[in-house]
Amino acid sequence: MATVGIIGAGQMGSGISQTAAGSGHDVLLADVSLDIAEKAKDKIGKGLDRLVSREKMTAADAAAILARITPVADYSPMGDAEFIIEAATEREEIKFKIFEAAGKVLAANAIMASNTSSIPITRMANHAPDTSRFIGIHFFNPVPIMKLVEIIPGLASSKDTVARTRAFVETLGKEVVMSEDEPGFVVNRILVPMINEAIFVLGSGTASIEDIDRGCVLGLNHPMGPLTLADFVGIDTVYEIMKVLYSTTGDSKYRPAPLLVKYVEAGWYGRKTGRGFYDYTGEVPVPTR
Ligand code: CAA
Ligand code: NAD
Repeated sequence: MATVGIIGAGQMGSGISQTAAGSGHDVLLADVSLDIAEKAKDKIGKGLDRLVSREKMTAADAAAILARITPVADYSPMGDAEFIIEAATEREEIKFKIFEAAGKVLAANAIMASNTSSIPITRMANHAPDTSRFIGIHFFNPVPIMKLVEIIPGLASSKDTVARTRAFVETLGKEVVMSEDEPGFVVNRILVPMINEAIFVLGSGTASIEDIDRGCVLGLNHPMGPLTLADFVGIDTVYEIMKVLYSTTGDSKYRPAPLLVKYVEAGWYGRKTGRGFYDYTGEVPVPTR
């Protein structure tokens, strides 16, 4: 079993931590402060308690998983890690700084990875200490449940890095899809323009938030409609992904929907801020338009 450093303790960093610890790995979890990393661990604990109360997991297993997650104040303990996985906010300037800082402690043979949804791996690798040991490991939300992980080698990622990354991901019980380092990789290239299109449909007054979602749930058998999914992923993240697709391809079909921009400017990022296409502050979600 490995020691894994995880940087970014939001929904993805927390999910990756729970999954890695659930597979027996030791996790060092960092965010911009120790307090945030500790609160993330508390939240993981509450999620595990729910699984215990629904008899999906024993209390002993939940306690063991939690005991394998250590919140850390800075990156120095990650010098012992075989993998450092960055799962911070989807903005390249934030990620570059993380790779530079964590790169100072990265062990000589360890792998640095990003859970980015869209930012080119080859571009980010230049900010890591060794481009041959840098790679994309793209988990899906919610991490403990979703079976897929995309592995995205950068131009300089070595064969050894790819092989060790695949072996690690398989220890998590996930299925791997390999992707070239192309905009949006495989799944987000398909999914996120669909969510953006749903926001165009909303913005043009074609249908209500609820009917757009109901249409996709009932007509496509999707587990959640695209606007509910945007709230779930994070509207800020959806916007950042569309910006990367648009800027890296130069293709106007990827321009962010004006209403998407408006929700981001309002700070209505979805579930994580309590309001997005739905308001989550009451007992049941209520559409915001
Ligand atoms: N850890 C482990 N198990 C968990 C869990 C956790 N944190 N949270 C929930 N579960 C389990 C539950 O116990 C339940 O198990 P059983 O089926 O055995 O009872 C199961 O997961 C389903 O949970 P719920 O009943 O609470 O929820 P649900 O049936 O309404 O499903 C959902 C929730 C899985 C999120 C479903 O709505 C869904 O699949 N939505 C779409 C998610 C999706 O598309 N994700 C991809 C987003 S895009 C992305 O991730 C990439 C990107 O870069 C943006
Ligand atoms: P989030 O907003 O829930 O969490 C981001 C976390 O990063 C926050 O806790 C924030 O404090 C932290 N952070 C910001 N700057 C930091 C820094 N300098 N150092 C350390 N931590 C910092 O976002 P998320 O949904 O967890 O997304 C994280 C990453 O995972 C993004 O790259 C995103 O594109 C990717 N991703 C998201 C999803 C999804 O469905 N939300 C799915 C796959 C991949």
